[in-house]
Amino acid sequence: MDHSNGAPASRELETVSCQDETGNGLSRRQALGAMATAAFAAGMAVFPAAARPKMARTADPAATKKAFVDKLIARMTVDEKVGQLRLISIGPEMPHAKLMDEVAAGRIAGSFNTVVRRDNRPLQEAAVNRSRLKIPLFFAYDVVHGHRTTFPIPLGLAASFDMAVIERMARVSAVEACNDGVDMTFAPMVDISRDPRWGRTSEGFGEDPYLVSECARASVRGFQGTSPDQPDTIMAAVKHFALYGAVEGGRDYNTVDMSPLRMHQVYLPPYKAAIDAGSGGVMVALNSVNGVPATSNTWLMQDLLRKQWGFKGVTVSDHGAITELTRHGVARDNREAAKLAIKAGIDLSMADQVYLAEVPGLIASGEIKMAELDACVREVLGAKYDMGLFANPFLRMGKAEDDPVDVRSNDRLHREPAREIARETIVLLENRNQTLPLKKQGTIALVGPLADSGLDILGSWSAQGVAEQAVTVKAGIEKAIEGKAKLLTARGANVLDDPKIVEYLNFLNWDKPEVIQDPRPIDVMIEEAVTVANQADVVIAVVGEVRGMSHESSSRVTIEMPGSQRKLLQALKATGKPLVVLLMNGRPLAIGWEKDNADALLETWYTGTEGGNAIADILFGDHNPSAKLPISFPRSAGQIPTYYNALRIGRPYTEGKPGNYTSQYFEEEQGALYPFGFGLSFSTFTLTDLKLSASRIKRGEKLTAEATLTNAGSFEGANVVQLYIADPYASIARPVKELKGFQKVSLKPGEARVVRFEIGPDQLKFVNGDLKEVVENGQFNVQLGLDSRNVLEQSFLLG
Ligand code: NOJ
Repeated sequence: MDHSNGAPASRELETVSCQDETGNGLSRRQALGAMATAAFAAGMAVFPAAARPKMARTADPAATKKAFVDKLIARMTVDEKVGQLRLISIGPEMPHAKLMDEVAAGRIAGSFNTVVRRDNRPLQEAAVNRSRLKIPLFFAYDVVHGHRTTFPIPLGLAASFDMAVIERMARVSAVEACNDGVDMTFAPMVDISRDPRWGRTSEGFGEDPYLVSECARASVRGFQGTSPDQPDTIMAAVKHFALYGAVEGGRDYNTVDMSPLRMHQVYLPPYKAAIDAGSGGVMVALNSVNGVPATSNTWLMQDLLRKQWGFKGVTVSDHGAITELTRHGVARDNREAAKLAIKAGIDLSMADQVYLAEVPGLIASGEIKMAELDACVREVLGAKYDMGLFANPFLRMGKAEDDPVDVRSNDRLHREPAREIARETIVLLENRNQTLPLKKQGTIALVGPLADSGLDILGSWSAQGVAEQAVTVKAGIEKAIEGKAKLLTARGANVLDDPKIVEYLNFLNWDKPEVIQDPRPIDVMIEEAVTVANQADVVIAVVGEVRGMSHESSSRVTIEMPGSQRKLLQALKATGKPLVVLLMNGRPLAIGWEKDNADALLETWYTGTEGGNAIADILFGDHNPSAKLPISFPRSAGQIPTYYNALRIGRPYTEGKPGNYTSQYFEEEQGALYPFGFGLSFSTFTLTDLKLSASRIKRGEKLTAEATLTNAGSFEGANVVQLYIADPYASIARPVKELKGFQKVSLKPGEARVVRFEIGPDQLKFVNGDLKEVVENGQFNVQLGLDSRNVLEQSFLLG
């Protein structure tokens, strides 16, 4: 049934039946211990010390690796080669016992979605003890924003504008994943998203090529550390190559049709950045690119990825994507699909049987050349080599006696980094009359359907995150005000009213229903909330989307506040009490009413395991918010897209100068409701005195732009100074501005600092009409600001 597969499997196999050679049952522990010892011994025998790869320590590590892999390929049968192209998930069609047999028969390269060492160990033992060539398996998983500990969703992480934060998230996630024997993650997801209707917007780092590329690099650094062959690092597989974020209409899995210019200028740079940072893998997108599915796209996979970019790692199809070539209408049947995919260079087939069933026949008939098959096998074996698995198949899994007794134990979580990181991702959008920070006194009303949800606060793709271990907003506030203030609560509304939508989302998250509805009529719920609000000094309302709404296969037609939550907010506002609105969502929402009416408005995204504590830290002023929007917030779905870095046009709308025949919508105000890069602080920051070190430079020279950032308020805090560059006259229309740098600066009250950016060819170059990177002479406008809209500007000439 599940071909979409979206929700990561949270099931953990608890039972493995083990028998000794005589068929006698062994205790689980005895069996695992015995097998582990045997496996180590066998591994050594197959790849004895002298023959085992010396990881990157020899004079020419690439040559050592090549020799090792070539030697192995020379010993492989066609069936064994095909086996090394199969990435399989345990499920109804492939129960654990069957998978063991498949592994022993040399028909599996790796598995994904199994993340318990005691389940994976027998699989690895079957590979290194029972399969003819004893090639180790690898274990992959969607470690996207955490593993056991859930960190904020990537869109929130990007809002930190702090690459150390992202690297730390990835590092801690990698360590946790390694402790579960995971070798590879299907991350980072770096699809640029300019259409918030797309549910997977939550999973990426937003709309800007520069910011997303920085996030891509930081993620790879964090996951892979110094090298993916270490026991505490995992291999990254950047996804979804390519352009998945540009699906038409924001409808998931839809087609992508895009000019080469836009591809190269906007959508491709983040994948390239991840690859340049060393990402060992690339996951291929489900969509087509200008009519040719990525999975059969030789231009994309060979010409661009391998030849132009020099990618030397492994490529992985997305779930069932090779079979889907028939539905795309480019392959008549599975046989043709397999042929197209191999020729395109799709090394690993994820979760379909197509390679297994078709490749041997295609080799026999000569339709696929052995060299083409070997090219794919070479990359898979190369990736295993790079993950250190030939040197030690149990590198990350360790010894059976060290297996955690309780895989979900609280001790395995990293709560401190989770809280520190989450605080950096929360964006303060409004703060009238210094409503925030709140005092820890009096009576506080906490209202809203998301206020006490441990599941939703994790966000989608939460890996092994456990709802019961997550600190909800309610729990976080309770802890913060314990013994000091009184908390009253009411649900106030459900997130959703429409039972059909609830049914859809519950079907989507097929492990178990996630959206549990309060059956009371909405008026009753609102009345209860208003009663509670009337007894309080301040009202905090936690509203937004259930996590499944910002997920794979969760595209929306509107970005309005779902259900009756707006009605609830309006009733709360009518009480006259100060209203703090906390948004929990994975995409920009149309929050015009909240902007105008909330006394304070916080975008919290989905903040993860320690979310409630992090949110409380901000609410009560124990931490000063400094995050900025990594994506523009449209006024309405009809204005999508509203990305800030739009190309210049002939009849632009000019704010304050209404005029017919300029590019605008006549029913609403123009432009984003909140622009890219926007976010407030409890303190007041000013940016003044923009100076350029030169008014003219020669080609190849650099200049400096500087401005003074002052913390003129009374809270210590950080702000993000953003550098934008515009190239107003060029050989092709260029964006009105583009982010080219940012610096997050912490200042004490009253403190000021000069912030400097160097500007040279790297900041001025662009991809021209011939798809060449060029720097053109002429005028450049340099802007420094604390968001993308309000900026200081100076110009200089090049050439
Ligand atoms: C499908 C998703 O598109 C992809 O992002 C994910 O990595 C795989 N399934 C595996 O779970």
